[in-house]
Amino acid sequence: MVQTDHSGSDRKHRIDAMAEIVTPRQRFLDAARGRPVDRPPAWMMRQAGRYLPEYRKVRERLSFFALCENVEAAVEVSLQPFERFRPDAVILFSDILVPVRAMGAPVEIDDGGPKLGRPVRTGADVAALHGFDPEGETRFVMDILRTLRKSIGDSAALLGFSGAPWTLASYLVEGGGSKNFTTIKRMITREPHALRALLTKLSGMVAAYLSAQFEAGADAVQLFDTWAGELSPAEYREFALPYVRDAVGKLERFGKPVVYFVNGIAGILEAAAETGAHVLSIDWRCSLADVRRRVPDRALQGNLDPALLFGTPESVASRVTRIMAETGGLGHIVNLGHGILPETPIESVAAYYDAVRGKP
Ligand code: CP3
Repeated sequence: MVQTDHSGSDRKHRIDAMAEIVTPRQRFLDAARGRPVDRPPAWMMRQAGRYLPEYRKVRERLSFFALCENVEAAVEVSLQPFERFRPDAVILFSDILVPVRAMGAPVEIDDGGPKLGRPVRTGADVAALHGFDPEGETRFVMDILRTLRKSIGDSAALLGFSGAPWTLASYLVEGGGSKNFTTIKRMITREPHALRALLTKLSGMVAAYLSAQFEAGADAVQLFDTWAGELSPAEYREFALPYVRDAVGKLERFGKPVVYFVNGIAGILEAAAETGAHVLSIDWRCSLADVRRRVPDRALQGNLDPALLFGTPESVASRVTRIMAETGGLGHIVNLGHGILPETPIESVAAYYDAVRGKP
């Protein structure tokens, strides 16, 4: 996918593409396909959030899920980072737990993170989770995407997203965030049928939910498998990979890129490529140069450590420049290695985008 073809027609395509001004939307889509770009596109995971005073202001009047369901407010919040920094992609404001609520699981989010009142641990619990129509119960998500699509035009790629089955299952089973994932890992040997049934159900949901997002105008979608890096390679192959691969396979018909994020991907990188995702989003614990050698046919996203945004603006700029040098800017979407942290200084975010644009 990452082209090293230097044929005449490829060179002509490149010259033509550079002669005209490339739109940010096209830049993102070209990078996701490993095609040549004028510079790598950039955005940040969790780019709308608490580090922005304008986000905190909206949250004073709306609870978290009320914000997710309020189309006008969610559109406004999705655009807040775009208005400040002009990233090449705008991600819909929502949460990976929104569709889980639509399946009938009670979810609350407070300062301690997500809490699920009734954890899912038996076959009967799994059976009680119901399917839903994405244009019905989560119509607000599709309306946010449709509104954003009209508003941003070609000035950014529009991204949809979903949690991946293993990561969603870990919240459902543990009843919230977890340190050691002992309850879901206990199910691997003690309740394997219930666990597989849950993952199968979630995989079907993810495919339907992301299909609806593509139909509503998303240019690309990202699958967040944040906690799959907690699995051994053998368990990853059994309890995460097949369910992601099935969902990605069902999205192939749209011909649009799927980005796959795992926090701690190094130990399962080749297996993660087997999901069929077009872009692999890489955390900061490995170098993009090594990752490129291991999965040469895949576009990469990443991989600045979000904690490094607490350093000086100069240090941020030099790290970003180094990361871009590791891929030569080809088949590369510049991003963080995980979501931006709430206390992040805004001047560091500005330094990150300036460095991508080559501004001194
Ligand atoms: O990227 C964006 O700007 C879009 C919005 C977005 C949110 N959550 C908003 C949010 C996205 C893409 C997510 C994904 C998400 N949600 C993930 C995967 C990415 C990752 O960071 O690993 C996960 C694991 C969740 C579950 C979740 N939601 C947690 C663990 C928390 C609490 C911790 C935290 O970061 O606050 C949330 C709440 C949440 N989701 C907030 C935001 C802006 C903060 C809530 C608030 O406003 O008080």
